[in-house]
Amino acid sequence: MTSRLFPTSATKRRRCSLANHATGWWVSSDGSGQLATHFRDDIALSQMGEGSLTIDVHYSALNYKDALALTGSPGVVRKPPLIPGIDCAGIVSQSSDPGVPIGTAVVITGYGYGENRHGGLATQVVADSEHVIPVPEGLSLKEAATIGTAGITAGLAITALLRNGVNPNSVFPIAVTGAAGGVGSLALALLSHEGFRAVAITGRTDEADYLTMLGAIDVISRQEFLAQPSRPLLPERFAGAIDQAGGEMLATLLASTQNYGAVIACGLAGGSDLSTTVLPFILRGVSLLGINSVFQPHDVRSTIWEHFARAKLPLDQIAQVVDLTDALDVAPRVLSGLTRGRVVVAIGA
Ligand SMILES: NC(=O)c1ccc[n+]([C@@H]2O[C@H](COP(=O)([O-])OP(=O)(O)OC[C@H]3O[C@@H](n4cnc5c(N)ncnc54)[C@H](OP(=O)(O)O)[C@@H]3O)[C@@H](O)[C@H]2O)c1
Repeated sequence: MTSRLFPTSATKRRRCSLANHATGWWVSSDGSGQLATHFRDDIALSQMGEGSLTIDVHYSALNYKDALALTGSPGVVRKPPLIPGIDCAGIVSQSSDPGVPIGTAVVITGYGYGENRHGGLATQVVADSEHVIPVPEGLSLKEAATIGTAGITAGLAITALLRNGVNPNSVFPIAVTGAAGGVGSLALALLSHEGFRAVAITGRTDEADYLTMLGAIDVISRQEFLAQPSRPLLPERFAGAIDQAGGEMLATLLASTQNYGAVIACGLAGGSDLSTTVLPFILRGVSLLGINSVFQPHDVRSTIWEHFARAKLPLDQIAQVVDLTDALDVAPRVLSGLTRGRVVVAIGA
C-alpha cells in the first residue's frame, strides 16, 4: 500500500488559485544572491514562459535536486525567480501542437525544467511539445511520477552496463548504492526484473525487508562497506555498480569491481570528490561511466518508458505521497536521507 509522509510541521497553505493563475512553489533571489522559497497562489500563466503546451500537473516529485532547490541551495535554480520541480505528470489543457492534443496524459523529466525554466511543483506548467512523453498505456500519472527522473536514470544506468558487457550472466552481482533512495529503489527493482542479481548498499539496514522486496539478494551496510581498508584494489566482488553517492563510495566500488566490469556514476549524495588511483582501470580494465538524465534524446527516453510500462514494478510500494503544500517541510528529510523510495507530490490529482 502507498505510504503517505506526514511532515512534523505542516503549515496548511491555500491551494486554490485565481483564474489564469497557478499555485505552487516559487524560488526567488533576494538580490544578494540568497534564494528564498514562497508558496504562491497568484502566479500568472502569462509569466510562466513560452511553450506550445499548458499542462495541468497532477503529480510531481521531490528529487534530491528539488529538495536542494526548495531549501535555497545554490546550483539547481539557475534563473530565479523560478518554480522548482524537475519532473511532472499531468494532462495537456492547452495545445498549439496537433501532435499533442488537449487531454493527452504526458510526463516530463529533465530538459532543464525546475532548473532554468519553470518546473513541476505547481498546478500548471508551460512546456514544449518536444519535451513531453505520452504516458505509456499501462501506467497511471502517479506511477509515471513515481518513475520520473530516478527511473530514467536507473534505466540509462542499466543500458550502460549492458552496453559494456555486464549482463545477468556475470559471476558477480551488481552493487546499488543509496539503495533505499529514489534512484537506488528503481535501479534495484529494474535490475531484478531484467534478471540481474543485485546487492543493496545502504545506510539504512533497517530497510532490509523493503530492499529484499525490491529484489536485492543481499543488503550490505554502507558503514561496513566503507570501513574496509582503503586500498587501490580490493577483492573482486561486483560485476558492476550503479552509484549515486560519489566520493569514498565510488572509489571503494571501483576497487571492488571485477575484471572488465563497469561502474556507473550518477550522483553525489555522499560527495562530489573522487580520490582513486588508475589501478582499477589499467590492471582490471574497469570502466567508469557517467549518466546525465537531463539531456537525453527523445527516443532513448521513450524506450525506457515503454520498458517500465511492461515491467510492472512494485511502484505503489516505492512511492511515498506528500501534498504540494507540504513539499517544503519534507525537503530537509530528503536531503538527510530519511525518506524512502520516491517522494511523489500530489498536486491536481
Ligand atoms: N546523473 C543524473 O542524471 C541523476 C539523476 C537523478 C539523480 N541524480 C543524483 O543521484 C543522487 C540520488 O538522487 P535520488 O533522487 O535518488 O535521491 P534520494 O531519493 O534522496 O536518495 C539518496 C540516497 O542516498 C543515500 N545517502 C544519503 N546520504 C549518503 C551519504 N552520505 N553517502 C552515501 N549515500 C548516502 C541514502 O540512501 P541509503 O539510506 O539507502 O544509503 C538516500 O536515500 C543525487 O546526488 C542526485 O542528484 C543524478
